[in-house]
Amino acid sequence: MTSKISVIGAGNVGAEAARMVLQKGLADVALVDVVKGLPQGKALDLMQAGPIVGYNTKIVGSNDFSAVKDSQIIIVTAGLARNPGMSRDDLLQKNASITKSVCDNIKKYAPDSIVITVTNPLDTMAYLTYKTLGFPANRVLGMAPLLDLARMAAFITMELNCPVTEVKAMVLGTHGDLMVPVPSQTTVSNKLISQLLPKEKIDAIVERTRTGGAEIVALLKTGSAYYAPAASAAYMAEAILKDTKEVIPSSVLAEGQYGLSDLYVGLPAKLGKNGVEEIVEINLTAEEKAALAKSAEAIKASNSKLR
Ligand code: NAI
Ligand code: 2OP
Repeated sequence: MTSKISVIGAGNVGAEAARMVLQKGLADVALVDVVKGLPQGKALDLMQAGPIVGYNTKIVGSNDFSAVKDSQIIIVTAGLARNPGMSRDDLLQKNASITKSVCDNIKKYAPDSIVITVTNPLDTMAYLTYKTLGFPANRVLGMAPLLDLARMAAFITMELNCPVTEVKAMVLGTHGDLMVPVPSQTTVSNKLISQLLPKEKIDAIVERTRTGGAEIVALLKTGSAYYAPAASAAYMAEAILKDTKEVIPSSVLAEGQYGLSDLYVGLPAKLGKNGVEEIVEINLTAEEKAALAKSAEAIKASNSKLR
């Protein structure tokens, strides 16, 4: 039987994630949005790309949430990006209300699915998704640390001019200003990054990774990044559907790991057919551990604003 992935939100990230799922031949897709015609139009366009690109996977677009029935995985990208004049708090409240209504529909139509949240503020929306759905924590996770890792890896590749496949980076913590890039776990061709680059260069890469999303927003002027975010969400869905057991940093429920609990935060997670199969504890330096604790405090402060 063909697998099915639903994507909620047919905007920039959602439509590109749908395209990647189709192009990988991973699953048929249901694309759902509240704007009339938008998911239908994008779905039709993507069906018509199939004969050229060579994928046989199918997509339907709908304004009706019942389209998500029988999905193994649901990628949630519904929500607003921050506009000029809108505070982070406004964004949190607006996206919280969208997330809750999306979760009510997921509970109704796809109660056995695994949900990957993308909507910002990511760690707080992943926590809210978990609380609203009432699914076991292994079936709710958030995408952002993989995107942040990809940004760090891209900056290292740009600095060393090395093949991207040789770079193994790691980013934990929140998807925000207090994100925790982890140079002590970052290697190129199995050599630690500290053996290949001076401290100032590593510090600059860490800082550029932390501000990677804002750098793209400033360049685009309207909207935010979507190619790398969509690629990251599709990659996580693939790891789950194909049961790869790859360790992929994801926003997951901490239940004592790394001394953290009762929050969603970026940690290394083994992904497989059950969703999050294990939170893997890796060695961190004292500085990285302290940064992770600070990151968790910031997430808890954000969570406390949920009404
Ligand atoms: P977008 O504005 O292009 O698309 C959002 C879509 O959500 C719109 O088409 C809108 O109609 C739809 N929507 C709103 N309410 C809905 C509802 N109740 N049900 C279904 N659809 C609904 O925005 P974009 O660029 O696709 O970003 C989406 C979200 O993802 C934003 O919150 C953004 O900040 C976040 N994001 C998170 C990243 C991460 O690393 N976690 C990376 C990139 C974006
Ligand atoms: C990003 O990091 C906006 O969260 C989004 O690109």
